[in-house]
Amino acid sequence: MARLIFVNFDPAARPFAETIAPFDAEFGFFLPENCTLADKTVLDLNCNWKFVVENLMDVYHIGTVHGRSFGAHYKGDREGYKFKLLPRGGYSFFFEAAPVTTDGKSHFGKMPWLDRPDTLACLGFLAPNLNFSGRCDAIRHWLTWPISPEEASSSPIRSLPRTCRSVPTSRTGCATMSTPSTSRSMRIAPWSNRCRTESAPANLCPAR
Ligand SMILES: [Fe+2]
Repeated sequence: MARLIFVNFDPAARPFAETIAPFDAEFGFFLPENCTLADKTVLDLNCNWKFVVENLMDVYHIGTVHGRSFGAHYKGDREGYKFKLLPRGGYSFFFEAAPVTTDGKSHFGKMPWLDRPDTLACLGFLAPNLNFSGRCDAIRHWLTWPISPEEASSSPIRSLPRTCRSVPTSRTGCATMSTPSTSRSMRIAPWSNRCRTESAPANLCPAR
């Protein structure tokens, strides 16, 4: 999990290497150190932060709540679910789904180092507030913070392979990157009052 910064203010905290090892064993094959930031969306939500964390663990709602966006390409094969509990409240969950786009097709191509099917999909959780999702073409780290008992802020941070720099980008391509279907669905949720997407780095969207 290179290139991410983890902070723990507990002077008696366990070594980071020990903490991250189970998570890295499950998802390290995505090679996040070979990826770069694509976009970051900030969601200001009118709900308790635990609701967000729990919602991001729930795969059952994808085909219904997101049925008109990326959920339309969700396989929903429960026989293929592979769920594993990790130490200290974490988990990994592998299933089959298309890339998280409205048409179910990757706009940037499969990660070149992945030797897994294009239907690769997974969710993960590292307590207390880091959710993770992966597809064959991109990964997302979701950081959720409590603001008050009834307010939270959640930020999906999408990363793409560095090789995407060579993909011809256009205004349309950048618009696609900066309007992930996840944030669109969040906008229409009654417990979401604000959603903003920060610009993708210039090196990924030179046409902007
Ligand atoms: Fe959802």
